[in-house]
Amino acid sequence: LPQAASAALLLEWYDRHHRDLPWRVPPAAARKGAVADPYRVWLSEVMLQQTTVQAVKAYFEKFLALWPTVGDLAAADTEDVMKAWAGLGYYARARNLKKCAEAVARDHGGRFPDSEEGLKALPGIGDYTAAAIAAIAFNRASAVLDGNVERVISRLHAVETPLPAAKPEMRALVQALTPADRPGDFAQAMMDLGATICTPKRPACSLCPFRTDCRALKTADPETFPRKAAK
Ligand code: ADE
Repeated sequence: LPQAASAALLLEWYDRHHRDLPWRVPPAAARKGAVADPYRVWLSEVMLQQTTVQAVKAYFEKFLALWPTVGDLAAADTEDVMKAWAGLGYYARARNLKKCAEAVARDHGGRFPDSEEGLKALPGIGDYTAAAIAAIAFNRASAVLDGNVERVISRLHAVETPLPAAKPEMRALVQALTPADRPGDFAQAMMDLGATICTPKRPACSLCPFRTDCRALKTADPETFPRKAAK
């Protein structure tokens, strides 16, 4: 598979079809030198862990208005943070959010660590979130794997191993495809492709930038990837 070519095709697609989301730096702005604020990337990724993009938007804007920096959030009243979070659910996320802001303010001078390892040492930041922040905010070529990305990569390579056993294999395939240039846009492009084109049902394969490379599309039924273990 021509890896570099495939990543380039996806990034071209993203330049035209990316979703405009309040925590993103759009590709045009990035070309003019704009960089993502790690605080915004972290806040959005924590909110998006168990909540839809549509539901997160308003909460994200509210948090940014109330607490524009990680230092502001660290200094906030825990009660106020819990109140602002009300409705998003999974309240352990909100408690960890506050603890993480305090750790960044206290132990890191208000700046997020710029490596996956450093990020993972913080409260509430697991493998996925660390990889996403490292790629999107710090331009690291980390492999970002969420449910959407699993679907895209399993179809692109027709991965026959069922989930969840296939995760290490999928991670390696995503890693191999991740470009050194624009890894954050690449990760978000994979998410957008999974959300809008490479959907669970009736994927819009004719519009997909991977349509000539996709192994699943050459099978009778691309929808049946990712494979799932029999119940
Ligand atoms: N889901 C999780 N992180 C996301 C992001 N950065 N953009 C879109 N959807 C997401």
